[in-house]
Amino acid sequence: MGHQTDLFGASDEAPAPAIPARVAIKIEVLREQLNRWAHEYYVQDAPSVPDAEYDRAYAQLQALEDAYPALITPESPTQRVIGAVMPGLASVRHALPMLSIQTETDTEASGAQAFDARVRRELGLHEGDAPVQYVAEPKFDGLAMSLRYEGARLVQAATRGDGEVGEDVTHNIRTIRQIPLQLPADVPALLEVRGEVYMARADFEQLNARQREKGEKTFVNPRNAAAGAVRQLDAGVAAQRPLSFFAYGLGAVTPGEEGGPAWSRHSDLLQQLKTWGFPVSSLVQQARGATELIAYHQRIGAQRDGLPFDIDGVVYKVDSLALQRQLGFKTREPRWAVAHKYPAQEMATRIEAIDIQVGRTGKLTPVARLAPVFVGGVTVTNATLHNLFEIRKKGVRLGDAVIVRRAGDVIPEVVGRLPGPRPAYVPNFRMPAQCPVCASHVVRERGEMNHRCSGGLFCPAQRKQALLHFASRRAMDVEGLGEKLVDQLVDADLVRQLPDLYRLDLPTLAALPRMAEKSAQNLLAALQASKKTTFARFLYSLGIRHVGEATAKDLARHFGKLDALAQASAEDLLQVSDVGPVLAQAVVDFFAEPHNRSVLQQLLACGIAWEAPAADAPQPLAGQTVVLTGTLPSLGREQAKALLEAAGAKVAGSVSAKTHYVIAGAEAGSKLTKAQQLGVKVLDEEGLRALLGMG
Ligand code: IVH
Repeated sequence: MGHQTDLFGASDEAPAPAIPARVAIKIEVLREQLNRWAHEYYVQDAPSVPDAEYDRAYAQLQALEDAYPALITPESPTQRVIGAVMPGLASVRHALPMLSIQTETDTEASGAQAFDARVRRELGLHEGDAPVQYVAEPKFDGLAMSLRYEGARLVQAATRGDGEVGEDVTHNIRTIRQIPLQLPADVPALLEVRGEVYMARADFEQLNARQREKGEKTFVNPRNAAAGAVRQLDAGVAAQRPLSFFAYGLGAVTPGEEGGPAWSRHSDLLQQLKTWGFPVSSLVQQARGATELIAYHQRIGAQRDGLPFDIDGVVYKVDSLALQRQLGFKTREPRWAVAHKYPAQEMATRIEAIDIQVGRTGKLTPVARLAPVFVGGVTVTNATLHNLFEIRKKGVRLGDAVIVRRAGDVIPEVVGRLPGPRPAYVPNFRMPAQCPVCASHVVRERGEMNHRCSGGLFCPAQRKQALLHFASRRAMDVEGLGEKLVDQLVDADLVRQLPDLYRLDLPTLAALPRMAEKSAQNLLAALQASKKTTFARFLYSLGIRHVGEATAKDLARHFGKLDALAQASAEDLLQVSDVGPVLAQAVVDFFAEPHNRSVLQQLLACGIAWEAPAADAPQPLAGQTVVLTGTLPSLGREQAKALLEAAGAKVAGSVSAKTHYVIAGAEAGSKLTKAQQLGVKVLDEEGLRALLGMG
């Protein structure tokens, strides 16, 4: 018998197993189920089944596909990493160009006002006419992406490139589980969805931690990490770099206008994209007129540092698609949209010197003196380099061009070095062998990253920092006792240890250079007022190693009295929630030191006192652990934390099986997911208010 071909063109040479109908159906059911679960998990952040159940179904599908390879389709959930290694990235001409947006760098309200005024003028609106409806969105700091679906299947993903021609990165984009490979059947025959591929901050931190463990290079920021992942040639590598996606618009769509998509507003379109399974940011909002745009810019700006992803501004878009068409385009930008930026949080500058600062615990911190640069809304001239190992890891040296980052109130830091040649031989930075302030030996404990001055309170730098910490707002709150004054007091040898502060008198203070009698009086009054405090504040103010504000509160709550704490053994201390062996030992060591005991006695003799917590204060949440995540509609994070603590709850930073409640607001991320996986009770702000009996 010769070669035969059947009606369907299949050769009989490699007989494929006959496919029972029930297998084909089972495979379809599994795929539908897996896609739905993945959408709940990755897009809605609300998984409905435990991970193990997902894994079981996935394994089942994989086994069936192994047995019947003819049934594998590229849209199957098992086919996200197709293992393709590309020889290079192919060029893609966009069916519709990917536009850029005009950018207002103005940080003031005028950015929104100017845009609204221009839109109204171009639409021929007058003063009495109604405000224009806008949609306000975050400007995600990632990479623009165009996703092309034909017959509801993802067929191509392309970068923006120059706007006309981008690069084909389909193999990598398929690995992003927030991006559907298959859409519902009712989508237009050709659909291009546009949006931003980005890396969430938590994913970025984890990726860098893994890179460090493997001894591989780390990424300077989430944007760079995302860009690198998207342009990988090997999809297997890209799959290891966790990327996310937000949809914000459309490219080419057919059928077009007539009989086509049934939306007339940008906001409806976003809703439709959401229905089709694309992630749309919950921070997107409608806004009426310039006033609401300004309010949005301010509100998102205030939330910026706490968001789970980087943004560099907000985008305003005219909501009505008819008005968008009327406004039209300039060469490469629509007239109906504008980006309103926030001050950049990263800028390039140069390291002019590396100095050493000695902290409260003797830690030596290398500080880069920089050519002044405007970043995060202020001019920065110093940035921390953390420690010797950070300097080595980042490979920075004197004179290098570097990226400096300042986000919110965080201390500016040198993120990394910009590539480029060094002018001449520059020696590697070294830590000094002696403290630059008191000349005591510099030591580094085994396994420690930090170098320390061994001088203790003999070292004026450590003494100054200890005093500043003691007087700080969250500790004893001595108003007016700032850096300059502490310098004077220590340099004149008027204050050697904490209790000396309370022994200062008017003649001594008034005799200090540049000290007016009135300021001296104010300081004495502030010292007097500081004596009435709380046990937790007092504990925190002592600067015991590893005892931060939260730990001080835990210890105060648990032990109630100073004597009880001073006599506690390491085992006793380990009974306190969140206290580990290192912290327990630090507390034991502190109270074992005769010098410290003497300081405590003297402080109490000076009149420092606190009230025992009222036994009848209602503590409905005593013993409960609560985690806050995302942005609550009206309560600030500090406010919510204070309310919870007043009710006796412990506010923790991460979710575990021991967490009692997770309070989730807008853009809650992995903490919420974790809570849902662990079955921890999740509340919104309203639920929190009810829990606190706030009605
Ligand atoms: S709309 C016609 N919306 O900003 C307007 N762009 O210059 C097309 N971007 O690199 C873009 N967030 O990737 C739009 N919510 C958002 C955005 C956004 C970030 C990026 C976009 C492009 C740049 C536009």
